Amino acid sequence: MPIVFHEKSREFHLYNRDISYIIKILPNNQLGNLYFGKAINDRSSFSHLFQKKARPLSAYVFEDDPSFSLQYTMQEYPSYGSTDFRYPAFEIKQENGSRISCFEYRGHEIFAGKRTLKGLPATYVEEAHEADTLEITLYDDLMQTELILSYTIFNDYAAIARSARFINKGEKTIVLERAMSASIDFIDSNFEMMQLSGAWARERHIKTRKLQQGIQGIYSTRGASSAEHNPFIALKRPNTDENCGEVYGFSLIYSGNHLEQVEVDTHNMTRVIIGIHPDTFQWPLDKGEDFQTPEAILVYSDCGLNKMSQTFHKLFGRRLVRGQWRDKSRPVLVNSWEATNMDFTEEKILSMAETAKELGIELFVLDDGWFGNRDNDNAGLGDWDIINIKKLPNGIKGLADKIEALGMKFGLWIEPEAINKDSNLYRKHPDWIISTPGRRTSATRNEFVLDFSRKEVVDYIYSVLEELLSSAKISYIKWDMNRYITECYSLGMDARDQGKVFHRYILGVYDLYSRLIERFPHILFESCSSGGARFDPGMLYYAPQTWTSDNTDAIERLMIQYGTSLVYPISSIGAHVSEVPNQQVGRITPLETRANIAYFGAFGYELDITLLSEEEKEKIKEQVAFFKAHRDLLLKGVFYRILSPFDGNEASWIVVSEDKTEAIAGYYRILCSANEGWKRLKLVGLDEGKKYMINNSRRNYYGDELMNVGIVLEDKDLCQNGADFSSAVFYIKSI
Ligand code: GLA
Repeated sequence: MPIVFHEKSREFHLYNRDISYIIKILPNNQLGNLYFGKAINDRSSFSHLFQKKARPLSAYVFEDDPSFSLQYTMQEYPSYGSTDFRYPAFEIKQENGSRISCFEYRGHEIFAGKRTLKGLPATYVEEAHEADTLEITLYDDLMQTELILSYTIFNDYAAIARSARFINKGEKTIVLERAMSASIDFIDSNFEMMQLSGAWARERHIKTRKLQQGIQGIYSTRGASSAEHNPFIALKRPNTDENCGEVYGFSLIYSGNHLEQVEVDTHNMTRVIIGIHPDTFQWPLDKGEDFQTPEAILVYSDCGLNKMSQTFHKLFGRRLVRGQWRDKSRPVLVNSWEATNMDFTEEKILSMAETAKELGIELFVLDDGWFGNRDNDNAGLGDWDIINIKKLPNGIKGLADKIEALGMKFGLWIEPEAINKDSNLYRKHPDWIISTPGRRTSATRNEFVLDFSRKEVVDYIYSVLEELLSSAKISYIKWDMNRYITECYSLGMDARDQGKVFHRYILGVYDLYSRLIERFPHILFESCSSGGARFDPGMLYYAPQTWTSDNTDAIERLMIQYGTSLVYPISSIGAHVSEVPNQQVGRITPLETRANIAYFGAFGYELDITLLSEEEKEKIKEQVAFFKAHRDLLLKGVFYRILSPFDGNEASWIVVSEDKTEAIAGYYRILCSANEGWKRLKLVGLDEGKKYMINNSRRNYYGDELMNVGIVLEDKDLCQNGADFSSAVFYIKSI
């Protein structure tokens, strides 16, 4: 059992091969933290790590012990105002206006396995022995409210899953003003904080800064996890790189407003809090009601960023993603968006599908424009029950049948949370959008947001989509959401409950997803939000892959995919080869390079393949065959980053099979320059003692040579003989 409770010292030690996490019940019965990091041997007491000292101006808990102040104590789920003045994990407004609370230890339960979180995405186990869970119950006598802190430690992952639940057992209503998923304190602040930040078409760029005393953090108040800041941060030691050094990763399994905040106090202690953003949240709890926070995942690595990422990849890929598609090979697809936008006919779609079939592509995805009066983005959203028969005279069913008859699968785009004013649905239910009474409602791309915090709205959309998906052979759904939430207010809720709307909205999205995947388990869902504005672990629980970015330029994708790989499994990273000049940036890159980057993701094409030359079609045929031959290695192998595009002109990464008998490395050089020096590419992750051959050539090399000396790289090894935007993919096989 990797969770032990030492009764005498009143300490919990959660540990597995890689990590230790130690909690102590403090003298005032609140919870302290003693350590989180590399696994250490258990002992009956770690009390020496609980340090106390009387300090001038410090407020102390007990009048007779000036040495015990929460301000200088590492804690588990701290509150504000009772000797600790740092930002707290939670805050509850009580009937008398007070915000002071005192949750004391009441008991705990340790059990094998892990519970599900009602209505929320979360990691899971398939067998109870995969993980152990500690639930600590705390109680505030005055408020008569229970707080349950949950900690799951997985046997095979260097990760802890945490969440909190409040239950009002008293007569009086309380108001949760802040309920973070996790909070953890570190004894020092010698860290750099990494974040994945950006905007539309440049999502999840890696930004790093040294921690400073005070507050630093990232957040979203946009109603979605957002393209601006992904719900993830890492704290790494300054000398940590991809393969060496300590790093802690914090990821929130949630798709709505979030906050990841790091506070360094003036004694250089560091507090990380992660959870729903408190500024846009307020949750009254009446007698008997409870509130469950989303789950946060805490990962520790002592071998650099790659190991942290591999832990996230495995945990999320195997125990967050669910359903048939978790383990199935992902189909190679072609998507119509960049080829036709909304301007297509059935004939055009069929000719693209026929060509796709010849090239070996397995799935045709019809993007935006097939429904309602949808000829531009001004109209149609909401009318999922009206097929645009001007474009598709035989309906979705007719088209799907014809594509299936070609021996391909058929997929469809939807944007179920959005609505245009020019739609039948809006004309019928103008009060179904999120808008504040008496205020202007702002638009994005001519669209408005359906109020998914209201059950009747979600029920209606479910019924329409249920009918649509049962009406034709649809194997894949791309679920888009092309705006953020403004003027947040629900006509379905009382004034006192308006602080619930943002969270309720996301629960509505999760509910719709749950019902659809349960009803149509064979459908592969891809989530999307103007590209990657909702690429988060919450979505992965429902949709195994995400459209990473609307930016399909190969070179820009290096940065986007490199950053995304910090947390998200390669199988979740939708990546397509598109036309040149690229539609977002106008850059012309070789077809080989476009594929060499897209291979490291859920691979597909997004261009009018009927317009390609015979030579290009031949190349694509080879690319599709290459991906199919290696897709399980590419999507399920162990992924390592080698060279960062954020550091210079090159990028590289490699995927290695678990047994190290096979690997595929990608190398990318952005601009070429004249008369360059020699280049070697040092691989990682191979078996030092195994002999490998590269690209099926007769020459072979030991793993230790490939990792310590490197592959000799010459222009002739790169596509287009090393011209700008060149690249190479190396297939490495043990012999
Ligand atoms: C968003 C998506 C694109 C495409 C369009 C369709 O921008 O990210 O991939 O589906 O919507 O309108």
